[in-house]
Amino acid sequence: MLLKSIKLHNIRSYESAEINFPSGSVLLAGDIGSGKSTILLAVEFAIFGAKKGELPAYTLLRHGKKEGYVELRMQIDAKDIIIKRALKRSNEDIKQEAGYVVVNGLKKEGTTEELRAIVLELLGYPKDLIKKGKDLIYRYTVYTPQEAMKQILYDDKDTRLETLRKVFNIDRYKRAKDNSKIITSSLREKKKHLEGFIIDFDYKKKELGERKLEIIDIDDKITNMLPKIEEVKKLIRQKKASIEGIEKDINELNSLRKELSVAEANLSHRIEQNNRLNEEIRRLESQIEGIKNDVQGRSLEDLSLITKKIGEKENEINEAEQNYKNAIKNIKEIEVKIEHCNDTIRKMESLEICPVCEQKVDESHKHGIHLRESAKYNELVEQIQSCKEGESNLEKIRLQLKKERDSLMKEQSHFNVLKIKFDNLNEKTSLREEKHRLKEMIKKEIGLLNSKKSELHSKIEKYSETEEKYKIVKKEIDELLPQERFLELEKGKYDVEKDSIKRFILNIEKELNEKQKAKEKLSYISQLSNWIDELFANLMSTMEKHVMVNIHSQFNELFKNWFDILLEDEAMNVRVDEEFTPVIEQDGYETYIENLSGGEKTSVALSYRLALNKVINDIVAGIKTKDIIMLDEPTDGFSTEQLDKVRDVLEQLSMKQVIIVSHESKIESFVENVIRVQKQE
Ligand SMILES: Nc1ncnc2c1ncn2[C@@H]1O[C@H](COP(=O)(O)OP(=O)(O)O)[C@@H](O)[C@H]1O
Ligand SMILES: [Mg+2]
Repeated sequence: MLLKSIKLHNIRSYESAEINFPSGSVLLAGDIGSGKSTILLAVEFAIFGAKKGELPAYTLLRHGKKEGYVELRMQIDAKDIIIKRALKRSNEDIKQEAGYVVVNGLKKEGTTEELRAIVLELLGYPKDLIKKGKDLIYRYTVYTPQEAMKQILYDDKDTRLETLRKVFNIDRYKRAKDNSKIITSSLREKKKHLEGFIIDFDYKKKELGERKLEIIDIDDKITNMLPKIEEVKKLIRQKKASIEGIEKDINELNSLRKELSVAEANLSHRIEQNNRLNEEIRRLESQIEGIKNDVQGRSLEDLSLITKKIGEKENEINEAEQNYKNAIKNIKEIEVKIEHCNDTIRKMESLEICPVCEQKVDESHKHGIHLRESAKYNELVEQIQSCKEGESNLEKIRLQLKKERDSLMKEQSHFNVLKIKFDNLNEKTSLREEKHRLKEMIKKEIGLLNSKKSELHSKIEKYSETEEKYKIVKKEIDELLPQERFLELEKGKYDVEKDSIKRFILNIEKELNEKQKAKEKLSYISQLSNWIDELFANLMSTMEKHVMVNIHSQFNELFKNWFDILLEDEAMNVRVDEEFTPVIEQDGYETYIENLSGGEKTSVALSYRLALNKVINDIVAGIKTKDIIMLDEPTDGFSTEQLDKVRDVLEQLSMKQVIIVSHESKIESFVENVIRVQKQE
């Protein structure tokens, strides 16, 4: 670890300041109370945070200020690290605020404790020391506050020894011994448990052997059964194959029977049809016979002649009727003429004056007209007479003609009936022909059906034994099947039994396996607890002693060396006793530290402190603070000559960064860099 710079804001005498630390030896120079120690306290605060007792927050925050902070920049290995911590005053006390750590530009915010964990990790300080509040390694190697420098010399020996054991981690041997006791007692428990677990190992092993024999026995039985089962199965297979063939024949037989019954049904239908036709033909023949008798000797040839005659009669009748009508018309006309004659006669007799010439009509004229009219009248009467005679003749002719015609018509209607009968005869005859033809066809079909029937009968005959054969084979199969089932059931029982024994064997083997492992574990545990009891505990005690002796001799050597450098007084010797208490001899006499002069006391304290620094840095591996030391007023009470020794000390320390706080201006000439500190008012 090397310090690079620090920013202070409202820390003790500082309102705001930034100090850059060069590497090599650095002197923080300034008057008493100028703020030198404050810088070193601020560094510790930045790294570890404030701690009650060691570095309380109230000694850091500037009086009258609400808040303050420290931002420290340093380098650990190749890492560039910035740590910021802040303080805040509340009504009751001063609290630490959350801050941050930036490692190579990577910022992590965190509470006081979180930052502390990160920083201790970066410093490589032992984990088991991290939890303890006191940062002893830092205090004994890097920086001891001015007032605490001599403290360790005055501590009682037990406290000192205890503290040193902690720093050197000597306790781990004692802890290992204590832990080994816990382990052996838990091993004893385990041993007891395992012994209980394997108590029936031999018994189980014997049982496994017995069960394996049982399996062999069952396997024998199954092997004996297998050929029997196979034989029955083979027989069943054969029978089933033969029954399949028979089943085919039976199907064939059934379909032949079906065909036969269809043929028989067709045949009986056709016979019935034939019978019906015979009946119909017989009926038709008797009808034809009847009609033939009815029309015997008659022909339809006269029918057209009669029709022709009827036509002629009709014409004659029409003519007669016309004549008759004309006669009546003549009579009527003559009657009108007669009336007209009578009328004229009557009018002439009474007529005096002519209506045309209006002259008096003479009697002769009257008479003449009368004669002419009477003659006319007589002629007319004669005419009418002959007309009436003609009329009655005509009437007679007409009636005669009608009579003749009616008799012709009667004859015609007789012929019509005859025609119907002939038609009927023809119809019946052709119907009979039709029926004959149909009968012929049916006869043929009946023949065919009969031959088919006999053909089917002969085919069916071939299968006469099939059904019997089927019954026999079926019965044989029915007898074999239960045998097969019985044998398989027997075998199944053996299989089940075998499976269950196998499962049992598996379980027992698993159990024996576990017990075997337990046995091995038991022997391992016995060996282990023997080893712990007999070897390990003793080894820990021996190691503890060795380490302590080693540290002690190294420490003693260093302590003496530093003291000799700082105090060139041959009459004075120092060493540490077994509890690391410094022993000072003056002229061969042991003396107490309280009896020494100020400079001598400081020499003892500084030697002790430097020896401690070296031993810890040598023994505690992995810590990253071996390059730096900070000494706050290390020359308290030194004479001018003694001050010169500081130069040698700096040389011998051979550290990358040594920061000395001193108000002694003489020191300025020993160091590579001087930082002047002045109080900010
Ligand atoms: N909380 C504080 N607020 C303000 N000043 C303080 C506070 N604590 C101490 N001081 C003063 O700060 C000054 C610097 O102290 P310090 O750094 O110990 O001086 P020195 O340079 O002698 O080592 C002293 O005058 C001291 O009394
Ligand atoms: Mg000081």
